[in-house]
Amino acid sequence: MIDFKPANLTEVYPQLPFVPICGQGVFLQDNDGSQVLDLYGGHAVASLGYGHPKLIEAIKKQAQSLLFQSNIVEICIRNEAAEKLAEFSPECLTRVFFINSGSEANENALRIALQMTSRTKIVAVEHSFHGRTGAAAAVTWGAKKSWYGFPHTPFNVQFVRRNDVQALHKAIDKDTAGVIIEPVQGVAGAFDFSKEFLTTARSLCDQHGALLILDEVQTGVGRLGKPFGSDYFDVKPDMLTTAKALGGGFPCGALLMTQDIAVELKPGDLGSTFGGGPLACAAIKAVLEVIEEEDLLTQVQNIGSLIQNKCITGPVIGIQGAGFLLGLKVKPKASLIRDDLLKKGILTGTSADPHVLRLLPPYILEEKHVNLLIEALQEFKSETL
Ligand SMILES: Cc1ncc(COP(=O)(O)O)c(C=O)c1O
Repeated sequence: MIDFKPANLTEVYPQLPFVPICGQGVFLQDNDGSQVLDLYGGHAVASLGYGHPKLIEAIKKQAQSLLFQSNIVEICIRNEAAEKLAEFSPECLTRVFFINSGSEANENALRIALQMTSRTKIVAVEHSFHGRTGAAAAVTWGAKKSWYGFPHTPFNVQFVRRNDVQALHKAIDKDTAGVIIEPVQGVAGAFDFSKEFLTTARSLCDQHGALLILDEVQTGVGRLGKPFGSDYFDVKPDMLTTAKALGGGFPCGALLMTQDIAVELKPGDLGSTFGGGPLACAAIKAVLEVIEEEDLLTQVQNIGSLIQNKCITGPVIGIQGAGFLLGLKVKPKASLIRDDLLKKGILTGTSADPHVLRLLPPYILEEKHVNLLIEALQEFKSETL
């Protein structure tokens, strides 16, 4: 392990004690030569794991032919990526605006909701995480107290309790521009909503003329074993934001919307220098093609169920979430389990809930890898409990 203190980087990230130098499949290699099974996927990003030949080839080929051009010109690969993403997405979402990150996608979705309805209030859910930029932080639970909260939110925000249908009835009214929900709350620890909560949000939005935004930055692009959480819960949003797994590691994001919303937008309403760049689009197209060609949604469903059925062992007392966005409820502090597992060569993540360990593995994870986790969890029991 390299022993250095970064002299030039801002020290805003607590760092885990290993230095990955390369990755292959679901494994990372530490610079001391040891292998680490990655069940965290770089915060839900490494959808295809590491070194997938099709993704690498697509990025390489695009870099050689056209590394960058802006949105001022039409680029074939951008059209192809948008077509592929729309085809992969819920049928009601036919139009795509490419952007660089999850926060930016939310920023634009919120702006559209406020401008299009000429209303001033957004309804969000307690414990949600939507990003660190101005509007996204305004609808993020607890951001006010954290350093990225701003002195004032740019619009009115009303938070409702999770799964509280009555609270939705009270909050969504004629002043509500939009409602933003993660179908499964990621940072909160893979907390999954009841279908009733999500369908009530949909019908109240219809009733009051508000727009439903699903934040699928963490749940999207196959992580729940369906293309999106919208498909998993069968709830049709007006807008859907996604990022993370979308580029398999290449930074990108997207805001998907219905045709009804898209026709209201005119040139200049939204914009980005890098959003929809050729490399990002090549990556997006390749990721979606691989998910389909290798039937990875079925793999996420099957291996996700296996984890749910077999991993309540050792310190794990319950599992929440869906697909490959799973929260292992643990008796001791989740950070203790994460540190212990890492010593045994398995990378997992914590969450905002100190007793939930988060798993966000690449979609190519197999049963043999889950067995390594089960063994490590059982060892924890005999050593520590
Ligand atoms: C649900 C959700 N929304 C938005 C974001 C922000 O995305 P980004 O870090 O790409 O800006 C995150 C990041 O963790 C997220 O989990």
